[in-house]
Amino acid sequence: MKILSIVGARPQFIKAAPVSRALRQRHEEILVHTGQHYDQELSAVFFAEMGIPEPDYNLGVGSGAHGRQTARMLTALESLMEQARPDWVLVYGDTNSTLAGALAAAKLNVPLAHVEAGLRSFNRAMPEEVNRVLTDHCADLLFCPTPTAVDHLAAEGISDGVHLVGDVMYDALLAFLPRVDETAVLTRYEVTAGQYVLATAHRAANTDDPARLTALLDCLALSRWPVLLPLHPRTAAALQKFNLPVPDGIRLVEPVSYLPMLALEKNARCIMTDSGGVQKEAYLLGVPCITLREETEWVETAVHGWNVITGLDRQKVAAALAAPRPPAARMPLFGDGTAAVQISQLLADGWKLNHRRYSSFIIHPS
Ligand code: UD1
Ligand code: UDP
Repeated sequence: MKILSIVGARPQFIKAAPVSRALRQRHEEILVHTGQHYDQELSAVFFAEMGIPEPDYNLGVGSGAHGRQTARMLTALESLMEQARPDWVLVYGDTNSTLAGALAAAKLNVPLAHVEAGLRSFNRAMPEEVNRVLTDHCADLLFCPTPTAVDHLAAEGISDGVHLVGDVMYDALLAFLPRVDETAVLTRYEVTAGQYVLATAHRAANTDDPARLTALLDCLALSRWPVLLPLHPRTAAALQKFNLPVPDGIRLVEPVSYLPMLALEKNARCIMTDSGGVQKEAYLLGVPCITLREETEWVETAVHGWNVITGLDRQKVAAALAAPRPPAARMPLFGDGTAAVQISQLLADGWKLNHRRYSSFIIHPS
């Protein structure tokens, strides 16, 4: 199969690392970077550190208003797909790069596969929710990380092509955690295992309104342990624009690459975040998580007691910080670490399911 994979933002590089590796063992992959993320520490470091193949194309779309950014991607991806004539287009997650890839494929009648299908926050004000709903409704193969995701799709009438494969971020974590020198990372960031909080924040809902960003910083400042906050450029720009002071006890650092991030997560007393991927990694690494959002797509982590959804409510955050650690034993919520291999296999099998519908487009089935 010729598979055109589309990535553009930090979590997609991490997801693509195990998937790209598995795909290339039996398929031809054309890797396209939309250029949504372009800073060295949000993009290139992940390719270098995780051994992700150099993208065949970088569309260089950069930042911008959602409609314009997505439109630039859509235009470029359509031309690329017309030239490359892939058997499958593969998209990840819920960013604008995901949606552009899904729309370009759907308009050209190219079979579309979605990694991390079926996630829902049920908050349509969140740009990612619109992206993931639309992508799922365009997709022919839907790779779900959890049974909850399968249920969400069923509730929307989607059952054909749905496969529960587990989470590719778990595959990535299993592959890369053994390579981390935890002591060196803790020394470099001047933190002591179990005696600091790791925080991340980048959701539009938390960064774009100065009152909410101030409330978020106030929530972080409730920690009695020092807080290490690798700062997403969106949040850095907002702090500067609104000229907000950063409370004592919160240390801002540049975004970190994946291996040090795993070490910082694993050794934290607690994680405070609005990131989807970081919530999952907290669970997988057995670190209590406080989610600074009103809802989560990763409900299992909360149900199992490892994630408290506090929003920016100071009382809830204070209570979560004071709560005892959950019992150490954890259920395997995110599969068995073979999601990427299953995806590669299902793409090979999927052609058999889809070839009649797409026979006018597919020219080189292998
Ligand atoms: C995007 C995704 C979000 C994902 C996140 C991962 C959408 C709608 N959002 O959010 O789902 O969780 O990536 O990190 O697709 N910027 C830079 N350098 C860069 C990239 C961005 O400075 O390399 C700044 C720009 O000011 C830009 C802002 O960050 O306007 C936001 O970037 P954008 O890619 O639009 O959204 P994210 O907040 O990164
Ligand atoms: N991450 C990282 N360095 C950072 C912040 C996050 O390597 O400074 C990793 C994190 O470990 C996880 C992924 O990026 O694997 C999550 O991406 P992000 O929070 O940007 O997006 P989301 O998951 O919310 O879409």
